[in-house]
Amino acid sequence: MTAAPAAPAAPPDTDFGLALIGCGGFGSYVLDAVRDIPGLRVVVCADAERDRAAALAARCGPTVVVRKTVGEAVSVPGVDVVVLATPPVAHADAAVTALRAGKHVFCEKPIALTLEGAAHVAAEADRAPGVFVVDHVLRYNPILRLLQRLGGEGLLDALRRFSFENDASDEDLGPDHWFWDPARSGGIHIEHGVHFFDAASALMGSVPVEVQGTAVRRDGGPVDIVVATATHPGGGVATHTHSFTHAHRAERQLMRLDYGFAEARVTGWIPTFATITAWTDDAGAARWERLPDRAADLLTVPGLRPHGHERITVAVTRGAGSDRPASGRGVTRTVPHRVDCVIDLGGEPRKPYVYAESVRAAMTDLLHCAVHGTAPVADARAGLAAVAVAEAATRSAQTGGRALPVTAPTTGTVGGAD
Ligand SMILES: NC(=O)c1ccc[n+]([C@@H]2O[C@H](COP(=O)([O-])OP(=O)(O)OC[C@H]3O[C@@H](n4cnc5c(N)ncnc54)[C@H](O)[C@@H]3O)[C@@H](O)[C@H]2O)c1
Repeated sequence: MTAAPAAPAAPPDTDFGLALIGCGGFGSYVLDAVRDIPGLRVVVCADAERDRAAALAARCGPTVVVRKTVGEAVSVPGVDVVVLATPPVAHADAAVTALRAGKHVFCEKPIALTLEGAAHVAAEADRAPGVFVVDHVLRYNPILRLLQRLGGEGLLDALRRFSFENDASDEDLGPDHWFWDPARSGGIHIEHGVHFFDAASALMGSVPVEVQGTAVRRDGGPVDIVVATATHPGGGVATHTHSFTHAHRAERQLMRLDYGFAEARVTGWIPTFATITAWTDDAGAARWERLPDRAADLLTVPGLRPHGHERITVAVTRGAGSDRPASGRGVTRTVPHRVDCVIDLGGEPRKPYVYAESVRAAMTDLLHCAVHGTAPVADARAGLAAVAVAEAATRSAQTGGRALPVTAPTTGTVGGAD
């Protein structure tokens, strides 16, 4: 069954002026992803390299103002939303500057290089009138939303294990790129791992209590492989492996989710395809079989425009297992039927589409919250919690690999989606 295109979120009823700080690769990507949102217009492009800001401003229209710093950008009349897309080292100070100027902030991840810096940003976001969204794009991915919804409906049990294997590319990361310099990026767990620490927290519904880290250095070079094992309260474990050692064509990612009687396998770092296998009873089989008709609702993310070819298929093999009770980890059920479910957003060829639309959905969330006074899905607390896990994993690796406690707030929207 194909998902019918769902209506995008209602456009905000206010006119928002946007200032982009950091006009490099991802800043211009974000701008392209959000600039057709109704009610949003680009007012300022700012970059420490003024020529970069000028080139992007010229693409956006003749009235766009060019600046060098966030301080200069927030004083331009008509700026309501500040997008921060500088390298990570500049995020925390810039976020505080923009929040204190009364602006809404759309901050690239990580929100800061350190737990201390992230806590400072989160405290400022709590006090400030503006909405703060961290661009944890996975929070706005339709497949992960669907998994959260199936959990909420009881079709999936609590997640026991989250395992993410990321064979990422280093092909465009030359030796002088800021990515390899922990003083500017924070290292792999902080620069990139935060996406997945946050996704694991959203899917588990909790922030881990402790984490153990490992870091592997390439011969004579920087750390390019990191592993973290995070223990969540209530008996869940998440393992995260990131290996920035591949050619683009050899990139691959797998998120494996163990729900006990069900397993999900999600592929792509921007998820575009997933399978779920589950064991169920008669009533459960009937509920799984209704999912294809509910595809549009289950995959809805406000602000993300479906391309119209999203699919959920479900096949139930009745009597695939014995009808005697089966048990695992002390849970006993009579579940003779096997469910094979496929969620297909178009696979790898649709990654650019889903990625850009997820960024658009994150900005839509910010604007919606600015108009209605509600809290965004990927808020500063989510950004803080992810940095807390990432920093503890990094320190653990640097200090012999002993598990360290995660000192992060347990409040906030870690499980939030709908
Ligand atoms: N959410 C995602 O999926 C995602 C994906 C890629 C990158 N990112 C994030 O986007 C951010 C930018 O990454 P990028 O690849 O575009 O980097 P980049 O190096 O291509 O661009 C950064 C730009 O910021 C400018 N700059 C640096 N310091 C500045 C300052 N203090 N004030 C103003 N401008 C400054 C630089 O001149 C440069 O033009 C990073 O935080 C990165 O982690 C997020």
